[in-house]
Amino acid sequence: MKRRQLTLILTLIVIIIAAITVVLTINIFTKDDGTTVDPQQDSQKESNDTLAPGSDVTSGTGTDTSDLDKETNNTNNETDNSDTDKDNSSDSGSGSSENAGSGISGTGDTETGSNPGNTASGSTAVPTSYKDFSLTSGMSAAQAYEYLDEFLDSKYSILINKQNKVGSDYAPSDLVLPQGCSYQMESTAAKALTDMLSAARQDGYSDLILYSGYRTYASQKNKFENRTQQYLNQGYSQQQAEEKAGEYLAPPGSSEHHTGLAADVCSSKIVNKYGYLDDSFDTTDEFKWLEQHCAEYGFILRYGKSAEDITGFLYEPWHYRYIGTDHAKACMALGITYEEYHSMLVKLRDEAKADANV
Ligand code: DAL
Ligand code: ZN
Repeated sequence: MKRRQLTLILTLIVIIIAAITVVLTINIFTKDDGTTVDPQQDSQKESNDTLAPGSDVTSGTGTDTSDLDKETNNTNNETDNSDTDKDNSSDSGSGSSENAGSGISGTGDTETGSNPGNTASGSTAVPTSYKDFSLTSGMSAAQAYEYLDEFLDSKYSILINKQNKVGSDYAPSDLVLPQGCSYQMESTAAKALTDMLSAARQDGYSDLILYSGYRTYASQKNKFENRTQQYLNQGYSQQQAEEKAGEYLAPPGSSEHHTGLAADVCSSKIVNKYGYLDDSFDTTDEFKWLEQHCAEYGFILRYGKSAEDITGFLYEPWHYRYIGTDHAKACMALGITYEEYHSMLVKLRDEAKADANV
């Protein structure tokens, strides 16, 4: 009798332990929404959480979602493996060429900015003389010439668009991965991006992710041809298909991404919702933060709203271009496109040169 009772008690204990084990196992492998997950998949997800979706940090070339715009509903997630000419060895920035103050003004004979997309501060008058341009206003003609020429001569001033292309052999040096990102950028721009995303996180916007940085000529060509093919498949002529493809995607040679100075930054909430970079990003607090602070880190919003006649591209609230802090602040405050800002600087530089007799 005693022995049977003992056996019964032991059996009961075994059953209780088995039941507890089953309950614990179900809890561990069940998500909040009640669906079960494969533990192997879950750890894979965790290890990728700090990277852009589909990224491959070892090669520095993640799945580039930057061509996933709302116009095309393109869900083509091809991995860009073509940038084999990257140089990931140097992490030292070469510094920006600015050395003047950053107050912005234009007090002379003026016109107002034409880029309503750059609304950060917007409508400061555009100076028509270096004497009225805040960055050079306190300088002699010779100093103004030297200052403007130094920037215009530097890699940070490069103007790339459909009229100003780089060749297929163009290859920037000094490419590195910004911290926690999976796309390479030029080292100074990469440091600025790292600092900007870190500041955004500190202000509570941890949702901003780098979705594209440096791209080779070959990778852009591939993207552009794929996009053109999609329009050809829809019945457009070759010319129409290329024009449609070129609304959001630069033809090879005309992309700022070739320089490593351009960054596609978007909220992962938007990309996860639409599956591509969508211009509704500009309704988010993350975008508002970026628009307000990007210039402090040397970036400008490059393709503003309603500026496509000048830039050649539709509005892209996710595309930021590094030009250095002083010029970024000036350009954003003036509310003009980089095309206009660049040609303004050339004009002011030439005027200062003539005045300085150099
Ligand atoms: N989306 C920009 C225009 C590029 O492809 O470089
Ligand atoms: Zn871009």
